[in-house]
Amino acid sequence: MQELDQLQQAALKAIEGAIDIPALEQYRVDYLGKKGALTERLKMLGQLPVADRPAAGAEINFVKGVLQTAILNRRGRLERAALEQQQKAQAIDVTLPGRNVEAGSLHPVTKVLARIEQFFASIGYEVVEGPEIEDDYHNFEALNLPRHHPARAMHDTFYLSDSLLLRTHTSPVQVRVMEARKPPYRIICPGRVFRIDTPDPSHLPMFHQVEGLLIDERSSFADLKGTIVEFLRVFFENNDLQVRFRPSYFPFTEPSAEVDVQCVNCLGEGQCRVCGSTGWLEVMGSGMVHPRVLEMSGIDSEKYTGFAFGMGPDRLAMLRYGVPDLRYFIDNDLRFLEKFS
Ligand code: DAH
Repeated sequence: MQELDQLQQAALKAIEGAIDIPALEQYRVDYLGKKGALTERLKMLGQLPVADRPAAGAEINFVKGVLQTAILNRRGRLERAALEQQQKAQAIDVTLPGRNVEAGSLHPVTKVLARIEQFFASIGYEVVEGPEIEDDYHNFEALNLPRHHPARAMHDTFYLSDSLLLRTHTSPVQVRVMEARKPPYRIICPGRVFRIDTPDPSHLPMFHQVEGLLIDERSSFADLKGTIVEFLRVFFENNDLQVRFRPSYFPFTEPSAEVDVQCVNCLGEGQCRVCGSTGWLEVMGSGMVHPRVLEMSGIDSEKYTGFAFGMGPDRLAMLRYGVPDLRYFIDNDLRFLEKFS
């Protein structure tokens, strides 16, 4: 059967030349499908004389087997080629330099806050936080700063309404603790505070404070001094750091003192810009909690005494890291921030 031979040749050529699996599938349908060329031939067997049918049928089936095998082989090769192609496309070039993952780091003020918390935790203080939107009562009134008290003028306040404001200091957290709990306790209250100020090298409208409060039945000014001196010496990593307490005024403490440390830049020599040639740097306010403040929050001032202090971590960060301008802390300049990573 000359014709069948030609068909086989043509089919094998087509199968070998199939460029991808869909093309191959099309050839399979063309030759072996329900209406394929070979199938048509099988259907036409009935038209042959009975005696010729077995031989002709065997021949056609033989060719069918040959084509099926050829299709299977071609399919195998096409699949392997496709896989190789895919692997090549996804290959990793191990000689390429790696992509750098930029690691973030803690902000210098966050680091300072962590150091402060660590120190006070080590001597039994608990960290307490309070709301940044405060009411007039907790921010002023309960701290012995009644309406129209002149000391309120020291806090340039962002009022949200007659009675709500952005807290000007962290001292209201003291009040919230005193109202809620029975002494004794020792707490520190870190957080953001807000005052109307135009940014300059030493002022920001938003800055941080850490408030400290200890109340028990026998705390004294000596305890206040010991605690603060020890803290400052650990913080500045200088066991001989000179510290002085200067009499001062805060409405919520009596007596009150400002705390100065020996200038960390000129070491007290007094010939420098950082300390304005005084040799001293003011770092916090402190004092014995005013009996009226205790009483207003329901604490018996005959039985309990306490001391409090308030410091500015932004300023402590400036001194510790030698940063000349507070505004660097909020500029988000990576060249600055990376120095602390
Ligand atoms: N709240 C004061 C301020 O913002 C800082 C302060 C001073 C807090 C003395 C205290 C303190 O607890 O005893 O200026």
